[in-house]
Amino acid sequence: MIAVIGLGYVGLTTALGFSEKGFKVCGIDNNKEKSDSISSGRIPFFEENLSGILNKNLGKNFFIKKSFSECAADTEIIFLCVETPADRDGAPDLTYLEAALESVLQAVKPQDNKIIVIKSTVPPSTTVKKIIPFIEKRGFKNGKNIHIVYNPEFLREGTAWEDFINPDRIIIGVDGKYPKRILNEVFEPFNAEVYFVSLNTSEFVKYLSNSFFAALLSYSNEMSVIADKIGGIDIKSAFELFHKDKRWFGTPAAVCGYVYPSCGFGGSCLPKDLNVLINKSDECGYNAKILKNIVEINREIKTFWINKITREITTGQPIAVLGLSFKPGTEDVRETPAYTIIKMLMERGYNKITAYDPKACKSFDKTYNLPLNYSVSMEDAVSKSEVVIITSAWQEFLDNKDLLKNKTVFDLRYKL
Ligand SMILES: NC(=O)c1ccc[n+]([C@@H]2O[C@H](COP(=O)([O-])OP(=O)(O)OC[C@H]3O[C@@H](n4cnc5c(N)ncnc54)[C@H](O)[C@@H]3O)[C@@H](O)[C@H]2O)c1
Repeated sequence: MIAVIGLGYVGLTTALGFSEKGFKVCGIDNNKEKSDSISSGRIPFFEENLSGILNKNLGKNFFIKKSFSECAADTEIIFLCVETPADRDGAPDLTYLEAALESVLQAVKPQDNKIIVIKSTVPPSTTVKKIIPFIEKRGFKNGKNIHIVYNPEFLREGTAWEDFINPDRIIIGVDGKYPKRILNEVFEPFNAEVYFVSLNTSEFVKYLSNSFFAALLSYSNEMSVIADKIGGIDIKSAFELFHKDKRWFGTPAAVCGYVYPSCGFGGSCLPKDLNVLINKSDECGYNAKILKNIVEINREIKTFWINKITREITTGQPIAVLGLSFKPGTEDVRETPAYTIIKMLMERGYNKITAYDPKACKSFDKTYNLPLNYSVSMEDAVSKSEVVIITSAWQEFLDNKDLLKNKTVFDLRYKL
């Protein structure tokens, strides 16, 4: 049996989703009004499709209980779906989660082997730094009589049922074979790939997703204001035409390549065009904050990498820098991040640098004229070095990653 604590948008949908898949589920909500409403077959909020599913499962696979202790003995897996509000400064309020957890712990016996799955959204590292210490302080041992798991929920209000019952992926933050095996079985009927990751990763993916969609909305709004200030632009058509870019389509869509971390963008177009639009916007009296920050972050990311690299290596160590063009597949080195990275390394006294690029060594040397050694092959560059820094991800580097064994590698493109 599965228990779901907190029967709001996430909890009720979760409870009904598992009921629909044939599991026996008991649901608990400490808001009596809500709980009574659900018991009598009425959804206490508007959400398309849930009412029929509730009435189909109520009393057959889905049972409302007053407290967890009423179903504790028969329950192996407990989903916690209570609210986790934040104050104005973003500090999360975990009191609801802790109270729900407490109600579970009170009913757990030493011989039990219960899996507690947190679905409520919590900031990355909360499970490791707060939830596990919370249970351990009460005498339980994570991985022994209790297994703490994090499972981010991606459903959207309005399409909650469809999103839950047909998930695009299931992400489970967990440590330990037993909960992995059980959760694999539990999620099997959903026909979606199950990805097991660390607890912090599973929490972070939820914020990666929500922050991104929020950023897209604000970016679009900023662009609409710029368009309005410039004038004569049909904003609706402009956005609709933007949506016709083929990079939005395909599996995976090519836009995924842009939603990926690196050491910054370069080339002849993006940096120039951004600066030009910022300038135009200023001229029209609008301070394009997002665009300005995009440029700033593109500068800062190089400093981030340089600080990280120089913390870990000494100036005496020979370094191979692989990839000089601003992206693979071109010899174009205009605004290439590799230049800034190499220059910053040299400024900090790292002078034993050998560079290699399948196509761009000549153009890089001609454009920047840095006191560098160039290699004729990846193998040669790597063999002369203790440290390897990948600044643009040519396929050749990925195909020959065996050469990087025993080297200190910094993959600034996260491709290895
Ligand atoms: N709403 C969404 O679209 C959505 C999507 C993904 C993730 N989330 C996250 O999931 C969590 C739940 O969101 P929601 O929108 O379902 O919240 P909600 O406020 O609709 O529901 C939470 C429910 O938990 C109940 N509850 C609180 N403490 C309890 C306790 N100790 N015992 C039993 N019941 C208790 C409340 O009465 C309430 O009905 C939040 O962390 C939220 O950020 C929400």
